[in-house]
This record gives sequence, structure tokens and C-alpha cells, in this order.
Amino acid sequence: MAIEEQLEHLAQLKSRALLGGGPERIEAQHKRGKLTARERIDTLLDPGSFEEIDALAVHQEDAENGERFYGDAVVTGWGKIEGRRVCLFAQDFTVFGGSLGEVVGEKITKMMDLAMKTGVPVIGLNDSGGARIQEGVGSLAGYGDIFHRNVRASGVIPQISVIMGPCAGGAVYSPALTDFIFMVEGTSQMFLTGPDVIQSVTGEVTTMEDLGGAHSHTTKSGVAHFSVNGEVECLEEVRRLFSYIPANNMDDPPYVDTGDAVDRRLDDILSVVPATSANPYDVRDVIERLVDNGEFMEVHEFFAQNIVVGFCRVGGYSVGIVANQPMYLGGVLDIDSSRKAARFVRFCDAFNIPIVTLVDVPGFLPGVSQEYGGIIAHGAKLVYAYSAATVPKVTVILRKAFGGAYDAMGAKHLGADVNYAWGGAAIAVMAGSQAVNIINRREIVSASDPEAERARLVAEYQERLEHPYIAAAKGYVDDVIDPRDTRIKVGHALEILRSKAESQPPKKHGNIPL
Ligand code: HXC
Repeated sequence: MAIEEQLEHLAQLKSRALLGGGPERIEAQHKRGKLTARERIDTLLDPGSFEEIDALAVHQEDAENGERFYGDAVVTGWGKIEGRRVCLFAQDFTVFGGSLGEVVGEKITKMMDLAMKTGVPVIGLNDSGGARIQEGVGSLAGYGDIFHRNVRASGVIPQISVIMGPCAGGAVYSPALTDFIFMVEGTSQMFLTGPDVIQSVTGEVTTMEDLGGAHSHTTKSGVAHFSVNGEVECLEEVRRLFSYIPANNMDDPPYVDTGDAVDRRLDDILSVVPATSANPYDVRDVIERLVDNGEFMEVHEFFAQNIVVGFCRVGGYSVGIVANQPMYLGGVLDIDSSRKAARFVRFCDAFNIPIVTLVDVPGFLPGVSQEYGGIIAHGAKLVYAYSAATVPKVTVILRKAFGGAYDAMGAKHLGADVNYAWGGAAIAVMAGSQAVNIINRREIVSASDPEAERARLVAEYQERLEHPYIAAAKGYVDDVIDPRDTRIKVGHALEILRSKAESQPPKKHGNIPL
């Protein structure tokens, strides 16, 4: 064949691959309110940076009508986000509903292997009817091969999943094994078994959206971290998250010149945080003042809102924030907030992102349902995550740290590097109002005026035990600080810790209370 003919043949094949399942199915995809796989890639990546591989791979069985789709039901390759390399796959719903057969599995695993060899993050854009029914066990093998690589890559390269359509059956386990899950409101769903199966097995009546939509998974189950209205907006958020994280576990997150000086006093912080420790406030108002230019990317914003976690920069360097949220349930630690914070701490530790913890916690939540639900094991996750983390850890106690929650929230005893307490902070086994009922019960009962006696004893307790100076005297906090100096103190602590080197004792792996 003459070279002209060869080039013409290649161009024809490529243009067929570019069309996916064909113009009608592309139109149907748009009618569903969804972009195609290639449109999504163009939106996510820096313009012109995408290099596709396996565009000419063909599925192993012809469709019933004899159609063959070049590239099969996934587009794979690499590209750049803000000039930084990324490997990615985008399932193509216009080809067999994005279903995963042998060739799709092979394309995705080849791309994941490349990401591991090169230390580059993986982003998966999911939009699929699940295992390709026609290919039987070959499809299940494809999923298993992906799961295996998800696990091997965990903690080595960041893995981000974006759910942009259906994601059902065992297919959900690949996103669940990755570090972050984004969902698009209204057009993405995740569930193990759909509404029909549920109704036939349990009699419960539900809808796809109610069962596995973005709202359900970012508020109730906590399976997904981000819920975004609109595909383009969602992919922009993925780019934003990307800016805080490194390429791999041997790399540092990118430095950004934010122009916000570390030596900036928080002049109005005292008007944000009420002095009375029972009065609520939004800890995000503190975070906004503390971090560079007030920019904070909250993770799991709508799940377990009694704790706030997310990414920001201090002095231009990425930082993970963990903060009790007094606005919800008084900022108490419970099952979900412990799970949420522990998972976040693990990510930061795996990927060299220092952790700043802001403590304002009344304790762990008491209750039968919490105990039956396993608060012991779930709270232990948080203790484990902080203790095992070797990244720089800086903790500031804002107003109170009571009971086991004092330890669990990044205390010195769990290996935190620099710990501060605000001048008015209360640190104790419990608040005086509770403590006197236990240690002074007899005096209160026998007093001529029990309420006056109780008030006197509480005041005495506060003076004697409920302040930060005992902890400071013992070195459990490194200093008691003026709240207005919080950014300066945290910034300087992070600076000295930038060269921190610490390792865990040699072991195969620990046994985190899963
Ligand atoms: C092969 C599939 C498919 C599948 C959809 N298609 N799912 N082909 N295997 N699993 C094809 C359809 O035949 C159709 O082809 C095209 O994709 C679009 O599908 P529609 O049904 O027309 O689209 P829509 O109405 O939007 O519904 C989408 C859907 C539905 C909700 C995903 O297709 C569906 O319920 N599919 C089956 C889902 C499922 O049960 N999957 C297996 C889950 S178990 P044409 O040619 O008409 O365009 C699983 C196990 C994983 O995944 C195990 C891992 C360990």
C-alpha cells in the first residue's frame, strides 16, 4: 500500500475511534445531560496535552449487529493539569453503555501500570453499565485486575474517581478503593444493588437517585467526598484538588506563591470565637483567617459536619486541616466524624501533606447507639491515624479539649510535633459542670444551698484544673498563645518541621481497627 493510502487508512480508523458508539448515541448521551468521554477529557486536561493510547484496540466479540468499536468503551492515556502529569481513563457510555469487558479492563490496567511505573496520579472518569454481560467472567476478571492495582497503588500514587453516570454492582469497589470520589448531582449514581433488586429482596421502595445519587453519598453514607452541580464544574473541582497533592508518595505537593505573609496577625479572631465554651461558632471562620488568602477546599463538606477537614496552603505549602466544628453537635467526636477525620489524616500522611489540627471538642458522644455502632473501634481509627502519621503535625487547642478526645485530636502524646493552646483554653478529663457531680456529690447533696455550692465548686474546679497551664507546665503544650498569633505560630512551626524525618518501626503493616 502506498504511503498516502496507509495514512488515509489510519485517519479513517482514528476518526472511527473518535466517534465512539456513533453520532446517535452521542446525541443520546447529550440528551441525558452528560458530556462524552472525550469532551470530559478535554475539559479536565490542559488544552492539547492529551496523549491517547489503545485507541485502536477492539473488543473481542462483535456486537450482535456486527458493529465493531475502535477503542472499545473506554478512552485511556495521559495528559497534564496545570502542567503536571496525570494518567487517566474515561469510560465511554456510547459504546455498550461504557460496560467493562476484557479489552476495557486491559486498557485501564495498562494505563494504571504506566502510572505506577512513572509515579503519576490516576484519575478515572466513570460512566458505565458495569460488567459487560456478553463477556461473562472476562468482565469480572477485568474488575478484579483493576481492584488489585487500586490496592497496590494506594498510598503510592493519588487516585481520584469521578462518577459521571451509573456505577453499579461490584464496579463501585474500584472508586471505593481510591482516595477521593467526586459525584455529579442528578446524573451519577453508585449502588451495589439497584432499586428493583432491593424491592424484590427487602420490599423497600426507592429510586436510583435516592439510593445512590450524589446527595445520598455525600450526606448519608459518606462514600463520596464531593458533590458538584454540573460536569464542567465537577472537573474544575478535580483540577483544584489536584493542585494540593503531590504526584506520588516520594514527591512533595506543589509550592504556590500565594502572596500571603505567614507573619499576619488574626486581628479579629476574638470576635469570631465566643469566649463561653458552650456557645457555637463556625470553625470555618477560623480556618479562613488562618490559611493563605482564606482559600480552603473542604473535603466531605456535607458528611459528619461536626468535624471539618480539607486542604489549604500556609506560606504557600499544602496543609491538611482537621477541626472540630462547634456549630454541629457541639463539635463532639462520634462514629462518622472519627471515620472521616481518620481517613483524611491517612491520606495526608501517605502523601507528605502536613496536618494542622484545630481542637474545640467536648469529648466523644455518649449513647447506646454510638456504643452499639462501634464508637470504640471507630474512635480508635482516629487515634491510630494520628499516631501512625509521620508528617509534620501541629495542633492548636482553641477553647477546650476534654477527655479521650483531647488525646484523639492530635495530642502531643500521639506524636504531634508542636502543640499550642489559646490563653483561655480548658484542658481536663471533663468540664467542671460534670466533674463536680462525680467528685463532689456528697458536698453538694449535704449543702444548705446545693445549687450555690455546686456553682462554687465548679468555679473552684475551673480555677484549679480547667486551664492550659498544667499542660504547659508538663510540656504537653509547647506554649500558651494569644489567639491573634495563631497563623504566625502555626506558620513558623510548619517551617521548622519542613525537614522533619521520622519513620515507623519496621513491620509488614499495622493492623488499623478497620
Ligand atoms: C453490556 C450494556 C450494559 C452491560 C448497558 N449496556 N449496560 N451492554 N453490558 N452491563 C448497553 C445497552 O444494551 C445499550 O446498548 C447501551 O448500553 C445503553 O444502555 P441503556 O439501557 O439504553 O441506557 P440507560 O437507559 O441510560 O440505562 C443505563 C443503565 C442500564 C442503568 C446502566 O443500561 C442498566 O441497568 N444496565 C445493566 C446494569 C447492570 O446490571 N450491570 C451489571 C452490574 S453487576 P445500545 O446498543 O442500545 O446502545 C456488575 C458486576 C461487577 O457490574 C463485578 C465486579 C466484581
